[in-house]
Amino acid sequence: MASKNILVIYYTQSGQLSDIIRNMLKLVSNEAEITTVEYKPVQDFPFPWTSEQFFDAMPECVKEIPVELKPLQIPDKTYDLVIFGYQPWFLSPSIPTSSFLQSSYAAVLSGKPVITVVGSRNMWLNAQEKVKGALQKIGARHVGNIVLADTNHNLISLFTIIRWTFTGRKEAKGLLPEAGVQTRDIEGASRFGPIILDALKTGQFDNLQQKLLDSGAVHLKPTLIVLEKRAITNFRKFATYIREKGERGNPARMPRVKLFKRLLLTGIFVLSPISGLTARLISLFKKKTFRRQLNYFKGIRYESGVI
Ligand SMILES: Cc1cc2nc3c(=O)[nH]c(=O)nc-3n(C[C@H](O)[C@H](O)[C@H](O)COP(=O)(O)O)c2cc1C
Repeated sequence: MASKNILVIYYTQSGQLSDIIRNMLKLVSNEAEITTVEYKPVQDFPFPWTSEQFFDAMPECVKEIPVELKPLQIPDKTYDLVIFGYQPWFLSPSIPTSSFLQSSYAAVLSGKPVITVVGSRNMWLNAQEKVKGALQKIGARHVGNIVLADTNHNLISLFTIIRWTFTGRKEAKGLLPEAGVQTRDIEGASRFGPIILDALKTGQFDNLQQKLLDSGAVHLKPTLIVLEKRAITNFRKFATYIREKGERGNPARMPRVKLFKRLLLTGIFVLSPISGLTARLISLFKKKTFRRQLNYFKGIRYESGVI
């Protein structure tokens, strides 16, 4: 095969997403030339986070308000495929991600087949809809989506991710499993390599997503669709309410940020078991609707305003 060019573009704080992509492309790197570019804000976000900085980032995540990125050097080549890696923050594309997608650098995706790779906890639907919309606007050809998430129970993954986010400790401890995407799943991402390579060699991207799905590229529980729809509706309202008091970092908005934090934590740990139960009941009674929604969210087709 005449050497094919792949451009990998991503952002990561802990290195989890770069581990996922490295494993995914392990078997591809012998047969294609891979160029990797990492986008980063001029003033990057902290990791681990302080509680204040973390919750204060919600409104700008949800409203996709961009920050300035460090200048990027994207080698001028003819790319045959782009792998775009990102993570959801507050059910929305992370701020560095929406900043990249709104920047002039995003033009490199125009006209190119793009595979999105998501490294999440388990709530990525709204973020992916926003990214799909942005790709359409840029004129990219979205050909595949791979989502890695924490497969532990929702509440357990919340405990472990909070520990990881605020202390930097991802490893398992006592009864708690490791945080985020589990090591075996990160390593297992290598199974997508041959599928991607095949599409790259033949130039046939039309059935790529189906092949990725057949090898387990996206797992989605119906209850998470209900929970995410409920949550993003509230986040949007709170984002507007907090931003009435100023931009990110403005002390005047801290009382509202703290109120959001308290309500979110109550929602997660007190109401979410009840909410999860009603979500399960809804998904059982409306099986047909949910089957349709599951198919939609697992796919790459884009309809605006779905969530
Ligand atoms: C501010 C913030 C908000 C997050 N919100 C979500 C979320 O809404 N849904 C989700 O599945 N994961 C969420 N996560 C987890 C990230 O998507 C991601 O998996 C984790 O931060 C590791 O990514 P990294 O590769 O950048 O280190 C959040 C993480 C941070 C830091």
